[in-house]
Amino acid sequence: MSDFLEQRIKRIVVGVTGASGSIYGWRLLEKLQEQPHIETHLIITRSGERTAFLEMGKTASDFRNLATYHYPVEDIGSRLASGSAVLDGMIVVPCSIHSMSAIAAGISSNLLIRAADVMLKERRRLILMVRETPLHLGHLRTMTALAEMGAIIAPPVPAFYHRPQTAADIVEHSVDRALDLLGIPAPDTKRWEGKP
Ligand SMILES: Cc1cc2nc3c(=O)[nH]c(=O)nc-3n(C[C@H](O)[C@H](O)[C@H](O)COP(=O)(O)O)c2cc1C
Repeated sequence: MSDFLEQRIKRIVVGVTGASGSIYGWRLLEKLQEQPHIETHLIITRSGERTAFLEMGKTASDFRNLATYHYPVEDIGSRLASGSAVLDGMIVVPCSIHSMSAIAAGISSNLLIRAADVMLKERRRLILMVRETPLHLGHLRTMTALAEMGAIIAPPVPAFYHRPQTAADIVEHSVDRALDLLGIPAPDTKRWEGKP
C-alpha cells in the first residue's frame, strides 16, 4: 500500500504572476521536472510573462517547456477551473499582490485565480509565495484572511544560516522550502542539522 502511495502521480498547479522573482517559478518548475511521478499544470499571467522577460529574458514558451501541461490564463473553461479535477495542490510563485487580493476576494476573473479558488473550496493545499515590500495594512489583512481560509502564505524571504554564496543559493533555499510545503521534498535539499 505504501509503495502504491509513493508511486502515485502528484498533480500540482503552478501559477506564475507578474511579481518580481520569476526565477523562483522557473527554478521550481525545473526541480519538479526532475522528480518522477510529478505532473505540473502551468498557468502564467500576462504580467507574469512580461516580468519574466524583463528579469530573465525568458518567454512564456520557455516556461511552458518546463511544464507537463500548460493552459492559457484566459481559458476559464479549462479542467483546472473545476473542483472535479483530481489535483493535489497549487503554488503561485511568485505571487503578486494583485493575484493574492483577487484570490482572497474570490474574484475568479482568470484561470489562475479560479484554480486557486478551487483549491480553497476543495480544502486542498494552496501556497502563495507573495512578493512585495513594504506591506501596507490592507496587504497584511488580506494575508490574514487567506491564512484563515487555509492558504499558506510563504513569501520568498531569504535565510542565511546555510551561508549562501550566490543569488542562486538564496533562490534554491526558498524553492526547496516551497517543495517541502507541497509535500514533494527535493532530494538535494540542504537542511539545518542543529548547532555546529
Ligand atoms: C518589473 C516588474 C516588477 C514587479 N514587481 C512586483 C512585485 O514584486 N510585487 C507585486 O505585487 N507586483 C509587482 N509588479 C506589478 C504586477 O506585475 C502588476 O500588479 C500586475 O497587474 C500583476 O498582475 P497578475 O497578478 O495578473 O500577474 C511588478 C511589475 C513589473 C513590471
